[in-house]
Amino acid sequence: MTTYAQVFQGTAFTSKSPRELQILKDYLFCINVDGMIEKIISPENKDYQSILNAYKDADNFHRLAEGQYFLPGFVDLHVHAPQWAQSGTALDIPLYDWLNTYTFPIESKFSDLAFAKKVYQDVVSTLLANGTTTALYFATVHKEASYLLAEICAKKGQRGLVGKVVMDNPDQNPEYYRDADTQTALADTEEFILAVKELAKSTKQGVYPVVTPRFIPSCTDEALKGLGDLAAKYDTYIQSHCSESDWEHSYVQDRFHKNDAFALHDFGLLKDKSVMAHCNFLNDDDADLFAETGTAVSHCPISNAYFANSVIPIAHLHSKGVEIGLGSDISGGFSPSLFDNARQAVISSRMLEDGVNTALPAEKRGVPNSRITINEAFYFATAGGGESLSLPIGCIAEDYSWDVQIIDTAQLPIYDANEELHDIFQKIMYLTRPENIREVWVQGDKVHSR
Ligand code: GUN
Ligand code: FE
Repeated sequence: MTTYAQVFQGTAFTSKSPRELQILKDYLFCINVDGMIEKIISPENKDYQSILNAYKDADNFHRLAEGQYFLPGFVDLHVHAPQWAQSGTALDIPLYDWLNTYTFPIESKFSDLAFAKKVYQDVVSTLLANGTTTALYFATVHKEASYLLAEICAKKGQRGLVGKVVMDNPDQNPEYYRDADTQTALADTEEFILAVKELAKSTKQGVYPVVTPRFIPSCTDEALKGLGDLAAKYDTYIQSHCSESDWEHSYVQDRFHKNDAFALHDFGLLKDKSVMAHCNFLNDDDADLFAETGTAVSHCPISNAYFANSVIPIAHLHSKGVEIGLGSDISGGFSPSLFDNARQAVISSRMLEDGVNTALPAEKRGVPNSRITINEAFYFATAGGGESLSLPIGCIAEDYSWDVQIIDTAQLPIYDANEELHDIFQKIMYLTRPENIREVWVQGDKVHSR
């Protein structure tokens, strides 16, 4: 019999497709030394009993208690780690003012490594406690502090994809917070890429460098071009903000006479490993370009409610074949929980479909076919995020990484011992809070418990 590093027994929820949930009731999950799911065995399988007998009294056997369930760990496709220090503040002012009066001052403090360490340790632990096993991070312009964030992810066991932010445009960035000049921005990015690739060699779950122009207004043409070249040279991930708000969208139109998507593409920044945050104002040509290049949208529904002046037509983009994942956008979004963001994704889509202005007749109020279900929101938070990053994560399936959260429903309102598992899943999605997340595992290692 094959030997496994760990064997888990219990019921798991995972996506079969964007709309369909797969329920693996009382399965065995056999994990190898690399932290990958090597075998998934149903109770009907002829080997079930023999594997159970072989492992059930061993230290590396884990049986879920009554009322506990496995969910895939969440993939947060857009987090500003330094902004954890200002979460929840000033969400009632426009994006441009929020960046200039709150965000840039706080991000500039990350030149201080002691301060950076405090905030970064806290945000990584908080995200793990909320079930986020993989996170795509913006750090700040500071190369050292950005590297520190990657190190903290590596140590705490989170799969971190980290970008040193590039902001070299003197017209749009304050003197106290920007790259010294374009050449320094590119040289620092290259050094950062090499250092994180080196760190990755000794990190089981993986850490990855990400080429990160903050957004088009922050960067000169030369920097955007140089970053596209660096991403190609080192085959890295790329992230930025794209077509987020009225102001940002029209800034790019004024400067390039085209939308963000085509402007970014001209600089070599739309690729299979690209993830663009927000994307509320994508038109159909932009969406086609995303689908053709394999660029993913990071949907940040809470943040969008404050800063994006709109509800993104996420169902439409998905129907056009664009890859989609969910992002918290800490701290444009106040919540570190992708449960909260999945809930908001559903709520916003329903408001887009029905419309909001009761002065209009019902048939003129909304945008038909805009709603998404909680199953789709769950898909975006898990498998969709994994596909966006082209990593074997976000599904509880063979050859995927054992990245899971164990949800305890003992404190949820379940009063019927025979309640349908589909209904229990919906209660989990709508009602789970960090205190209900008992354990979090990444790549076969336990990284959080309570
Ligand atoms: N656009 C450029 N920077 C930011 C940021 O930090 N947050 C959001 N929401 N949008 C941005
Ligand atoms: Fe953002």
